[in-house]
Amino acid sequence: MIKTIIEPFRIKSVEPIRWTTREQRERLLGAAHYNLFLLSADDVLIDLLTDSGTGAMSTYQWAAIMEGDESYAGSRSFTRFFKSVQGIVGYKHVIPTHQGRAAERILFGVACRKGDVVPNNTHFDTTRANAEFVGAEAVDLPIPEGKQPALVHPFKGNMDVAALEALIQRVGRERVPLVMLTVTNNSGGGQPVSMENVKQVSAVCRRYNIPLYFDACRFAENSYFIKLREPGYAEKTPKQIAQEMFSYGDGCTMSAKKDGMANIGGFLCTNDDLLAQQEKDLLILTEGYPTYGGLAGRDLEAIAVGLQEALREDYLRYRITSTAYLGDHIAEHGVPIVQPPGGHAIYIDARAFLPHVPPAQFPGVALAAELYLEGGIRSVEIGTLMFGAAARMDLVRLAIPRRVYTQSHIDYVVEVILEVWRRRECIGGLKLEYEAPFLRHFTARLAPVEAAR
Ligand code: F0G
Repeated sequence: MIKTIIEPFRIKSVEPIRWTTREQRERLLGAAHYNLFLLSADDVLIDLLTDSGTGAMSTYQWAAIMEGDESYAGSRSFTRFFKSVQGIVGYKHVIPTHQGRAAERILFGVACRKGDVVPNNTHFDTTRANAEFVGAEAVDLPIPEGKQPALVHPFKGNMDVAALEALIQRVGRERVPLVMLTVTNNSGGGQPVSMENVKQVSAVCRRYNIPLYFDACRFAENSYFIKLREPGYAEKTPKQIAQEMFSYGDGCTMSAKKDGMANIGGFLCTNDDLLAQQEKDLLILTEGYPTYGGLAGRDLEAIAVGLQEALREDYLRYRITSTAYLGDHIAEHGVPIVQPPGGHAIYIDARAFLPHVPPAQFPGVALAAELYLEGGIRSVEIGTLMFGAAARMDLVRLAIPRRVYTQSHIDYVVEVILEVWRRRECIGGLKLEYEAPFLRHFTARLAPVEAAR
C-alpha cells in the first residue's frame, strides 16, 4: 500500500517569495527592533506568523467569488452562506461578521455584564479582551495535562469539568452568562477537545441552565482529531462529527479566516431568538445589515464553499499530517515542542530550548529572531512579551497557513530550526526598549542584552 500522504491539490497560480541575505536580515531585524511584527512581509521568506486569513483559496472558491451578489439586503450570497453554515452547526440564527473578534464583541456586548464570569478551556487573547472589555472576568479552566508542554495526551485541549462546576457553585449561576469551549485550543498549543469532554461540559451547562458556546475557529481540525483518536468515531465523517459536537451547544463564534478557508470573515450563531434579535440590532449599528455583516457578498460565497472544503477528509488528513511532520522532524533531534503536535501550528518550548536565557530576557522573542536571521522564517512569541510576568510558558508558535507551503518548504524550515538548535548556547537574551500600555507585543522594541554592556 502507498503510504506517502501528498498535498491534495495542484498549483494553478503561484506567488513568488523573496530571498534576502543574512547581512540584509541582520539590518532588517535591527531596524525592526527585534520585533518580527515590525518587518515588511516582503522581507520574509516563509511566513508562519499566523494561519489566520493566510490560506490559499481553491478554484471553486474563486469561481464562487465571481457569483457574489452584492445586494445590500437579502442577497443570494447570504442564502448560500446561511445554508452552508447551518448545515454544519445546526443553530437557528447565523449572523455574519467581519471576523471572529467582531462576533465575540457582539456576543459579549449583548450577553455579559460587569461582574460576570466567563469560563473557557483557554481564552484566545481577543476573546479574553472582549470579555474583559464589558467588565466580565475571563477564567481559563484547562485540564492539568494541558499545562505541561512535554506531556503527551490525546485531548490536551479539554476543559477541567470539575473545576467548571466548582467555579459555577462558587460564584453563583447568575454570574455565569455562558460557558465557552475553544476548538482546537489555540493558546493551549492547538490541542483538540474530545467529544466526551464536550458532552460532560454540556451536561454541567444544562444542569445549571447556562448556554454553551463554541469558539469554533478550528472546528474541522478538532473533528478530525476526534475521528483519529476517540473510540467510536473512526467510521464517521468529519462533518458528522462536527454536527454532533455543535448539537451539544447553544451557539458559536467563528473566525472564517481559519477553518472557513477565507481571507476574511466570521459569524455568530445562536438558538436564542431574543438574543439573536439584540445581536442583529447591535450588528446593524456597528458591522452592517444582518445579511452581510461587514462582508462583501463575494466573501460570503468564499466562506460558504471554504467551510465544506475544510471538512474534506483528504484535506484534513494532509493538514494534520503535514503539521505533525514539522513537529516530529524537529522533535526527533531533541528540539523541545509542545507535545503532541497541534492541528494548525507547532509550538517550540523556548524556555527549554534556551535554558540559559531567563524569562525576563524574552527567550521566545530571542528564538524567533534567530529563526528569522538564519532562514528568513517569521514565527510569533507566545510568552513573556505577550503576557508579561504572568506568562506560564515561553513558546514560539510556527503556524502553518492552509494549502500554502509544500513539503520542501517545511523541510527547509526543519533545516533552519536544527541549525539554530546546534548553536543554541551562543544565543543571548533581549531587553525591552519601548512598550505600549496595552497588547505590547505588537509594537514593542527590543535590543540584545549584550549590546548594552
Ligand atoms: N478565537 C481563536 C481561538 C483564535 O485563534 C482567533 C484568532 C480568534 C478567536 C479571533 O479571530 O482574528 O478573526 O478576529 N487567531 C489568530 C491567530 C489571530 O493568529 O491565532 P479573528
